Amino acid sequence: MPTPLLIANWKMNLLPDQAQHLLKSVTAESVDLPVVFASPFPYLPLLSPLIKDKAHIFLGAQDLSAYKVGAYTGEVSGQMLRALGVKFVLVGHSERREYHREQAELLAQKIIRAWENELTPVLCVGENLQIREQGTHLAYIREQIAEVLAFISKLSVEQASQSPLVLAYEPIWAIGTGRTASPEMVQEVHSHIRQALRELWRGSMPSILYGGSVKPENATDLFAMQDVDGALVGGASLQIESMQALIQKFVKAFAKS
Ligand code: PGA
Repeated sequence: MPTPLLIANWKMNLLPDQAQHLLKSVTAESVDLPVVFASPFPYLPLLSPLIKDKAHIFLGAQDLSAYKVGAYTGEVSGQMLRALGVKFVLVGHSERREYHREQAELLAQKIIRAWENELTPVLCVGENLQIREQGTHLAYIREQIAEVLAFISKLSVEQASQSPLVLAYEPIWAIGTGRTASPEMVQEVHSHIRQALRELWRGSMPSILYGGSVKPENATDLFAMQDVDGALVGGASLQIESMQALIQKFVKAFAKS
């Protein structure tokens, strides 16, 4: 069974004291399921002391370099993230794909750098509105996954099948727009992703998270879908009240599984 997972993606928001206050407030009550905070890089050392006694709260990063070390101005390596206590890292978020032109080969390299540093990569996929309206989204998403996995096997990574992987389905038209995909739409894509992974991935079945305007009001219905293992949350993770409510709904939905 894939592990349930809730990831807060803070993106480029919050100032240091706000980030610390938010993390402290939303983790005041203990949880038995993994909750990850994907923070801006500079806050990682400020946040790690706040979670050191919390077994199920993890630090995440929003990106990592495709390179190991050296003259790459502005980049942050997997090794650095590991040294700061990071356990999860987003790879190929649609905002990185769009604004930084990230493509499959680079994403494969980033995933490998993550594995080398014992980080769990969270590979993000999802279609834009045009593809959704054309009705070709299922084939498109399968191809997004297949391309990255093909580069990984081309780079002949020994450890690939033993390494952890998480998938996040985030339809671009639902990110930050307030427009959520309906639970049925999400289930359709997630079961398709599950099938694609059965065919393309030899390791244990990755968790498949949904992202795109997840909020306390729609979380329970999304979590009830058979192939939804959790969520990747942007906007609603920035407010204490909504993040607390999301954590409660997440724990309630997955506690017994
Ligand atoms: P949103 O962002 O929850 O604000 O739509 C989700 C994401 O981009 O990860």
